Amino acid sequence: MTTPRLLILTGAGISAESGLGTFRDTDGIWSKFDWQKLASPEGFAEDPVAVHAFYNARRAGLLDAAPNAAHTALALLEAAWVRSGGEFLLVTQNIDDLHERAGSERLIHMHGELLRSRCGACGDLKPCRSDLSIAMSCSACGRDGRLRPHVVWFGEMPLGMDEIFERLSSVTHFAAIGTSGSVWPAAGFAAEAARAGAATWELSMEAGESGHDFHHAVYGPATQTVPDWCDRIIAQAFSGR
Ligand code: APR
Repeated sequence: MTTPRLLILTGAGISAESGLGTFRDTDGIWSKFDWQKLASPEGFAEDPVAVHAFYNARRAGLLDAAPNAAHTALALLEAAWVRSGGEFLLVTQNIDDLHERAGSERLIHMHGELLRSRCGACGDLKPCRSDLSIAMSCSACGRDGRLRPHVVWFGEMPLGMDEIFERLSSVTHFAAIGTSGSVWPAAGFAAEAARAGAATWELSMEAGESGHDFHHAVYGPATQTVPDWCDRIIAQAFSGR
């Protein structure tokens, strides 16, 4: 009997009901801010003060936010799935820590983490819950002005890709939750999972750009759709065991 292997991909939509903005919805973050200036290495090189101000504001907003019922449902699903003998991995495009705060453990932040800083000179990573600035120096190498948010910017390589693709090659179940499927390589994960023979689900407000890659779809607010989907998927995966 094949071991049920579930990989879940989340995007900004799962944190929308926690008050954190999405990127491409109406009034989304990229409709108000220029990603080329604020979420690219070139933008940081040109105006690091503006980039720090952008992420400092988002970091402060995150500290006031809380996980919602969808985050909690995924943490409970992970515990039940593993307890039942299955394999589980949650890959998030989000840089917030709401999955961790809800109790998720088997987690990869493929676009980095807002609550960590990185030294652009030595690569040192540190927890970061307050403002970053160009006046700060790295506590590991001592260089000045090289600290940046530990966030993957456009044009940079996402994190954990080897493990993600290795896991995708043998998944039995895949779901994309709250993502528009606009950004690669995450946009290709559903097709990769389907090639491995997995059943695939899209849970969002509407079909994303890779909507055709899913066998099933559930549309509606994540706090309403995800808890029910979690109950159904684990019953289906472990029925008859
Ligand atoms: N419940 C479920 N889904 C929602 C909700 C909600 N309450 N609100 C919005 N959504 C869905 C939207 O329908 C959309 O499909 O969430 C998705 C958000 O899409 P984007 O704003 O494009 O966010 P995301 O897919 O995470 O973006 C991917 O792009 O800018 C980069 O690095 C950034 O990680 C981000 C990546």
